Amino acid sequence: MNDIQQQIAQLSEEINRHNYYYYMLDDPKISDYDFDLLLQRLIELEKQYPDYVLPDSPTQRVGGTITKQFQSVAHVYPMLSLGNTYSESDLTEFDTRVRSLLDAPLEYVCELKYDGVAISLIYEHGLLTRAVTRGDGTRGDVVTQNVKTIGSVPLRLTGDYPEMLEARGEIIMPFESFEALNAEREEIGEQPFANPRNAASGSLKLQNSAEVAKRGLAFKLYYALGENLPEHSHYDQLSKLHQWGFRFPDVMVKVNNIEGVFDFVHQWDVKRKELPFPIDGIVIKVNDFAQQQQVGSTAKSPRWAIAYKFKAERVSTPLLSVDFQVGRTGIVTPVANLQPVNLAGTVVRRATLNNRDFMRDMDICEGDCLFVEKGGEIIPKIVGVDVEKREMDARHVRFVENCPVCGTPLQQNEGEAGVFCPNEYHCAPQIRGKLEHFISRKAMNIDSLGEGKIELLYNQGLVKTAADLYALTYESLFGLEKVVEDEAGKSRTLSFKEKTVQNILHGIEQSKTVPFERVLYAIGIRFVGEVTAKKIARKFRNIDVVASATKEELMEVEDVGSRVADSIIAYFNDTDNLQMVMRLRQAGLQFEAGEEQKPSSQALAGMNIIVSGVFSIPREQLKEIIEQNGGKNVSSISKNTTFVVAGEKMGPEKRKKAETLGVPIISEEEFFKKLEA
Ligand code: IVH
Repeated sequence: MNDIQQQIAQLSEEINRHNYYYYMLDDPKISDYDFDLLLQRLIELEKQYPDYVLPDSPTQRVGGTITKQFQSVAHVYPMLSLGNTYSESDLTEFDTRVRSLLDAPLEYVCELKYDGVAISLIYEHGLLTRAVTRGDGTRGDVVTQNVKTIGSVPLRLTGDYPEMLEARGEIIMPFESFEALNAEREEIGEQPFANPRNAASGSLKLQNSAEVAKRGLAFKLYYALGENLPEHSHYDQLSKLHQWGFRFPDVMVKVNNIEGVFDFVHQWDVKRKELPFPIDGIVIKVNDFAQQQQVGSTAKSPRWAIAYKFKAERVSTPLLSVDFQVGRTGIVTPVANLQPVNLAGTVVRRATLNNRDFMRDMDICEGDCLFVEKGGEIIPKIVGVDVEKREMDARHVRFVENCPVCGTPLQQNEGEAGVFCPNEYHCAPQIRGKLEHFISRKAMNIDSLGEGKIELLYNQGLVKTAADLYALTYESLFGLEKVVEDEAGKSRTLSFKEKTVQNILHGIEQSKTVPFERVLYAIGIRFVGEVTAKKIARKFRNIDVVASATKEELMEVEDVGSRVADSIIAYFNDTDNLQMVMRLRQAGLQFEAGEEQKPSSQALAGMNIIVSGVFSIPREQLKEIIEQNGGKNVSSISKNTTFVVAGEKMGPEKRKKAETLGVPIISEEEFFKKLEA
């Protein structure tokens, strides 16, 4: 080992040790500042001597690697789920069943049920080599680089660890990180996450691990697997993992009977409100491994464990006022402003009243106290009115009759709950909505612009239609300012700097190569979705032909019925639309289809295929592959469907329907095998 190698090794060891004090023992020995100095020194050295970087280097915590596509792999041991219940009598039943299968005294371990995303960590010879998401339980996605940024995940084990170890647990986002992340997202005009679990799961799938490092995620250990592990019970095993470098679970107790379980459940149903991270229940496990074996498992879940889930929390709070918001499609949504109230760890100030019918059914009056509920996973929901607290002479809250933005009288289509503003082309939120649709991923994919920036450009009068985007210049964008308010009501000014401006212009320029079918989708013809646009583009191949097609000609396209055809005709009868299309064409967008791609094989000829769920490659790519091999993508299941390619999280409804109709469901892997055949 030369001098440099030695320096790198020493620094790495020192930093890893401090990480251990900080994350595992909650007992830092040096200041954050001194820690950063050490880390900076190591980063510099590693940059100069990349060959000497150690596999457990603490610089991996900072992130910086980019993962374009997460590889999917099979789990060594399937990741089972838990049977769950909301009722105490089910717990008693669980206890009776377990006892009936055992003849000796028994001990349960009670733990918190963390509300995050399950992760499997593989350690080979003490080194973290792989982190895999749960996926469908048999296969998951490899997210190692992202997981390595999480401080409470050990990169290397210490002590007498086994050759192979699989540690399982949950990646969670503490409330503090969650609130900070959402505040930031709202500031830049991005959709906030509905709950910490979604935020954790979204974070794990970020492409840039440096971004993951900033998300404040944490790992909670709950299970271990491996060959010849030394201990004979769950509790002792997790204690052993603690010796090898993991954090010991924040709460884990052994009890001898179901009464002990109930005590634990009752205690945590109250105390959970003080926890800094989300839990949605309690997990009860038989402690002894031999007894676990005796009780056994089903294909889906162990019989020796059960999850008790907390019921949704409910509070009542006064209604202060009702706002009417106009969405991007013109739908008007009533939103209740509530007296701020604490509910399951977050402060609730607003909650949706959905639509006019909902308000009428709830019979909401001015000054009413409303019941608000929050289950583990959902955003606060209004579930009723506390009628007893209502004033005698309280008046009903009236739904607006005119658009609160542009004043146009509102309309409602028969059979639909939504009330909408029909002033599609001149009502601000609807104009912004069209712009947002235009830049969205499946349309022109201008990702350097987002909702926040569109709003700014619109408010400044720079962009009113999509065509205006192509007239933007460096000068018109540079120095644009946006005032944003934080939670405490303090305002700050953000301004467009050189890099932002260049990114925006580059993104706009790039969009000129987007193929015709997506341009046709982007220009926002009502009822013309992504798939329909593609079919229309393929048949007519040119915007002029589409614009001059008769209703009958349009209806020759599969998927285009009378309603869609009428909408296309109306679109091209509107002079504002025609002018916008003309300007977009002058700007250089693709209004003609390119050469038709020849299928690369006929392996799927004549087959109607549905893809459903999340795959190792983007779904769009999978659909392309189907078409390139002569297959046809269809969107709804029928007898004529040849098969369904099922990814992670395929919708249960779809699965049920496929099963009822006897349509085969195959995995991504099996699908690719078909292509080879
Ligand atoms: S034990 C074989 N313990 O809940 C045992 N799971 O449906 C498997 N979870 O996906 C799980 N906290 O991600 C266990 N203390 C805990 C847990 C826990 C949260 C999650 C886990 C799993 C789901 C069960």
